[in-house]
Amino acid sequence: MAARGASLTIAAMNTSTFSSATPSDEDATPQLPRIAVLATGGTIAGAAADATNTSGYQAGVVGVEQLLAVVPALSTVARIAPEQIASVDSKDMEMSLWTTLAQRINTLLADDDIDGVVVTHGTDTLEETAYLLHLTIKSDKPVVLTAAMRPASALSADGPLNLLNAVTVAAHADSRGQGVLVAFNNKIHSARDVVKTSTYAVDAFQSPDIGALGWVQDGRVEFQRSVVRPHTLATEFVIGAKWPHVEIVVSYAGVSRIAVDALVAAGVRGIVVAGTGNGSIHASMQQALADAASQGVVVVRASRVGSGHVMRNGAAADDALGFVSAGSLNPYKARVLLMLALAAGATGPVMLQKTFDTY
Ligand code: SIN
Repeated sequence: MAARGASLTIAAMNTSTFSSATPSDEDATPQLPRIAVLATGGTIAGAAADATNTSGYQAGVVGVEQLLAVVPALSTVARIAPEQIASVDSKDMEMSLWTTLAQRINTLLADDDIDGVVVTHGTDTLEETAYLLHLTIKSDKPVVLTAAMRPASALSADGPLNLLNAVTVAAHADSRGQGVLVAFNNKIHSARDVVKTSTYAVDAFQSPDIGALGWVQDGRVEFQRSVVRPHTLATEFVIGAKWPHVEIVVSYAGVSRIAVDALVAAGVRGIVVAGTGNGSIHASMQQALADAASQGVVVVRASRVGSGHVMRNGAAADDALGFVSAGSLNPYKARVLLMLALAAGATGPVMLQKTFDTY
């Protein structure tokens, strides 16, 4: 949603926006939880030429100190330790940045002085980063991602309240042990379930089928359910610098086998297919994927539908074809899990199906 090259500087933004003092350790109440706020860019740090422009702006240009400065109420919730990890439009997220981010969070959370972490991120790939962290952070302290649909320069920018709510959730005792969370538009979602479902609405994130874990409003946090599948401390995954090559293909009317054959020729370790309906695949593409699987490429069947799950041996004969079912993970999260599993040494469809059934 962020257009590149918008010509704007912060000076052109609403000046009252950035006039408040940054909350500092000195004037915060010492017994408040200490929360690290790690900024990575995104629309929450975006700026446009005028306040009515919510689509043509540059993402990731406002620094973490300025993001914090417009939310003086943060100092009543937590002692903030800000860090600028990156300044990217999250459409350009790279796995090397995932490694840097996860390693930094693990280091911070190993420190007794840090009680939780908030990550500000772009909305476009937030669900992928959140799930990656959910599987690789080795702490039960809260990690909460947040973002915004409107740039920091916009009328009714949603970032400041989302940031305050994210810090409120990260500072709350009930958030411990819930895995990585996403606080957005007053809802608290699990990183495993949450997906972006709107290109423009401020209520852009949903957990299809099962709903949010809880809510946050005016300093109050309430969880209505908890996460069942293993995460954080309970996974076998550790963050590293090795990222096995896994790509995603889509099945649609008239699709050919060209993309799959090209990926196999390029040496991919795995292919996730965003199938139609219950992960069904056009016959041409399915034959190409079966050929890929017979050559040792891991093929995972997910769905392009956006909710529901893919039943093993439902719309394709997984046992006979050597495929793996993604269950309720969408194709993008299925790719994250497959990369981590392959990096951890998992091999073959039987072992990988167990991984997908577990996480
Ligand atoms: C991004 O993902 O970095 C840009 C779009 C957004 O944050 O809404």
